[in-house]
Amino acid sequence: MPRITLTVNGQPASAEVEGRTLLVELLRDKLGLTGTHVGCDTSQCGCCVVQVDRKSVKSCTFLAIQADGAEITTIEGLTAPDGSLHPMQQMFREHHALQCGFCTPGMMMSAINLVETHAQCPTSEQIRHAMEGNLCRCTGYHNIVRAIEAAWPLMQTDAEQTAEERERTCTISNT
Ligand code: FES
Ligand code: FES
Repeated sequence: MPRITLTVNGQPASAEVEGRTLLVELLRDKLGLTGTHVGCDTSQCGCCVVQVDRKSVKSCTFLAIQADGAEITTIEGLTAPDGSLHPMQQMFREHHALQCGFCTPGMMMSAINLVETHAQCPTSEQIRHAMEGNLCRCTGYHNIVRAIEAAWPLMQTDAEQTAEERERTCTISNT
């Protein structure tokens, strides 16, 4: 079996994989990162989304061998070493954007990719469209959209803008 090496949540990792091994199997079964969930195994639900080289990917339809040399981020990699939550985690908690939590890891990984690829705060319609590949059976989606809207200003790194100004920009662009 070929051996692949990759970086997972900032740490080097290596494993022997079969050609048919899926990335989600590598993460869950070989590396013990069970925060990435499997809801459907057929690329429908989005529970298995992780980031591969900063792009969100459904890991149930991505071969582990394709990740050789890549940087992978899973839900376990969002929390800082000091235990502080990622802004997306904070906003999901603050806006009650989860109930059973099964969809939440994939939801957050897709949402982070969405925010990181939008220079302007996305509208709620843009968020709903971009998140179409992530299904939730509990929340009705409204609070997830609110959480993502609220996370956008917190994730901007423009030092020229204060958090208050960014918040205002986001609010204005969504009215
Ligand atoms: S488990 Fe991958 S999309 Fe559902
Ligand atoms: S919170 Fe239960 S499926 Fe989304």
